[in-house]
Amino acid sequence: MKKVLTYGTFDLLHKGHVLLLQRARALGDHLTVAVSTDQFNALKGKKSYTSWEDRKLILEALSCVDEVIPENEWEQKIKDVKEYDIDLFVMGDDWEGKFDFLKDYCQVYYLPRTAGISTTKIKQDLKEIKAEVDKLSQKIEEEINQEN
Ligand code: CTP
Repeated sequence: MKKVLTYGTFDLLHKGHVLLLQRARALGDHLTVAVSTDQFNALKGKKSYTSWEDRKLILEALSCVDEVIPENEWEQKIKDVKEYDIDLFVMGDDWEGKFDFLKDYCQVYYLPRTAGISTTKIKQDLKEIKAEVDKLSQKIEEEINQEN
């Protein structure tokens, strides 16, 4: 059995995540996803909208995901590869070259990212929509106040 491992935050699960996970799973027979914990994200200066428990629950519901484990720190990768008997480590190509040190322990592939989508973009788009809605609400309120 060929075992595949990947890492990520997977907040606000989107098409880019699903395509990455499906391609990773198709490269083997079992996919383990190490999901950044809320504490680890805080260390990285990131804050996910969805809690670790909920991100785990959502990922476990995907047919391409066999197992979800916590990612607590940068340094755990070699230990995980050994402990989970991993044959192939996969990441999106925004990480190209960054994990080549794992080549001493397993295969390492970087898959092309899906263009035009990211959690950062979704958050930014939602922020802009909220700003628009707030502006409109204020305008309507001012018009109502002028009428009275
Ligand atoms: N990924 C991808 N295509 C995208 C977005 C992400 O293939 N459009 C991959 C990443 O390369 C990584 C995995 O999905 O291997 C998890 O990435 P993550 O950082 O959680 O997702 P992003 O949407 O990139 O999040 P952020 O904007 O917060 O960095």
